[in-house]
Amino acid sequence: MNFAILDGKIIERSEAKVDIEDRGYQFGDGVYEVIRIYNGKMFTAKQHLDRFYRSAESIGIVIPYTKELLTGMLNELVAKNNLGLGIIYMQITRGAAPRNHAFPAQDVLPALSAYTKEVGRPAENLESGVRTILTEDIRWLRCDIKSLNLLGNILAKQKASEVGCFEAIQHRGENVTEGSSSNVFIAQNGVVVTHPSDNFILKGITKEVILTLCKENGIAVEERVFTIKDLYDADEVFLSSTTAEVMPIIEIEGKAVHNGAPGPITKKLQELFIEAIEKECGAITKQTIK
Ligand code: PDD
Repeated sequence: MNFAILDGKIIERSEAKVDIEDRGYQFGDGVYEVIRIYNGKMFTAKQHLDRFYRSAESIGIVIPYTKELLTGMLNELVAKNNLGLGIIYMQITRGAAPRNHAFPAQDVLPALSAYTKEVGRPAENLESGVRTILTEDIRWLRCDIKSLNLLGNILAKQKASEVGCFEAIQHRGENVTEGSSSNVFIAQNGVVVTHPSDNFILKGITKEVILTLCKENGIAVEERVFTIKDLYDADEVFLSSTTAEVMPIIEIEGKAVHNGAPGPITKKLQELFIEAIEKECGAITKQTIK
């Protein structure tokens, strides 16, 4: 049996239905999180929960559960679904109410839902690296909020997908922001550089882990804006996300990065990242679940 969370209860997933006038469905009026599960344990759970509450607060949604209660529910869901390696997807919307752009009355309860899914580690891509394209960042100016509104991101990813690429690297004019569902890093002369966590990008949890790992291990790192030229001139390029971990980029718009193979700093960070996972969740393997 497969279970989901809906409005504070764990129920059969097939029973988890939302109203046709749910504001997430109609307006994308809500926020979400994706949390990685390794060995049946949430990785960086606190950081994800903190961001979830922060995202909700920034659009005026009050989550009607404490973080402790919600964390407990998520752990219970993972256990009930017997999930070893995968993800939790969780979202909260402003609830169901007759369609009107302005917020509904205070008594409309936000709708929280969550489910789990088996997702393997992308072992082959982690080993060989991935190909990417560049695309203008057409999204709104609050990309720091993990909003359900993902049209800009979806259109960017689709462009990449249509040409057999893993990710679309977005840029505002000359400045590189982030991937459609990932943060982007370059390494130049031994220095790792990534966009500062401002309103133009999502403050990735994986990005934060990588910044900490750099600092703890004597790898020079800078959060500053970099350009498309910097991207092409970089010794190494990689991206990060909850599901993609530390993913080497070996091609941008058909041009090879680091002669088309993952570079040494990227590989070092991959090793350190696995150590960080194992510290929290126990030993992991390279295996993928099909
Ligand atoms: N995406 N930037 C964007 C636009 C993202 O959507 C994501 C994650 C990230 C990386 O954040 P994190 O390291 O916290 O996963 C950066 C998730 C995985 C998704 O939408 O599926």
